[in-house]
Amino acid sequence: MADNYLGNKMEEHLAKQQHSKAAKSGRSFNQLVAENRSYRGFDRSFEVKEHHLRRMLEICNKLPSARNQQVLRYRMVWGEEADKLNRYIRLGGALPELHLPYPGTEPGAYIVICSTVEESRYVSVDLGIAAQSILLKAVDMGLHGICIGAFNKEAVKEDLQLPLEPLLLLGIGKGAEKIVLKEVNEGDSLSYYRQDGLHIVPKISVENLLIH
Ligand SMILES: Cc1cc2nc3c(=O)[nH]c(=O)nc-3n(C[C@H](O)[C@H](O)[C@H](O)COP(=O)(O)O)c2cc1C
Repeated sequence: MADNYLGNKMEEHLAKQQHSKAAKSGRSFNQLVAENRSYRGFDRSFEVKEHHLRRMLEICNKLPSARNQQVLRYRMVWGEEADKLNRYIRLGGALPELHLPYPGTEPGAYIVICSTVEESRYVSVDLGIAAQSILLKAVDMGLHGICIGAFNKEAVKEDLQLPLEPLLLLGIGKGAEKIVLKEVNEGDSLSYYRQDGLHIVPKISVENLLIH
């Protein structure tokens, strides 16, 4: 990794963060949520390793779960195995002309979330809580990710020889996009778009989200 400057820097950063006081005070929760955007392009000079994914998943036995059944299971995928999954995902459905991700910017790692029971409302709620929690942890570690529901389930299950049905993929890496949120009103277009090198995501104002 001698030539991997960014990778080394990130490793240093992550190691420091784990122990330093700064990690305890950290970024505010609002900042973490705001930085937790859906990235569809990653800087592959940073290599996501097993220990990064494991750290993200250390939160998984501390999450709420419907009837505390804890039906979700997680498969870490990194390195060459992750590269094999790239062909099974569809990113940026609202921008089909871009054919995202651009070659060489695919997620460097994945977390495949599966369930031990058939999909149901309870499983879906557990799934959402787990996905967002893991992605927030990734941001807390200086990394980024995206939920991927559009993927070839059969192919992923077969390639990884999963004993369970995969429900959702989390693509993980060091994000390499500039993403901004744009406040809009109820009824405005909610399609994300790209302008002047920015990925712009319309979000309905809090005032419009509240029921009075
Ligand atoms: C359950 C779920 C599944 C998603 N699946 C995909 C997907 O298959 N491909 C994709 O490009 N984005 C996917 N996304 C990302 C959304 O498009 C993204 O959240 C939305 O554009 C808003 O952007 P933001 O996450 O930065 O706020 C998914 C998000 C969620 C919550």
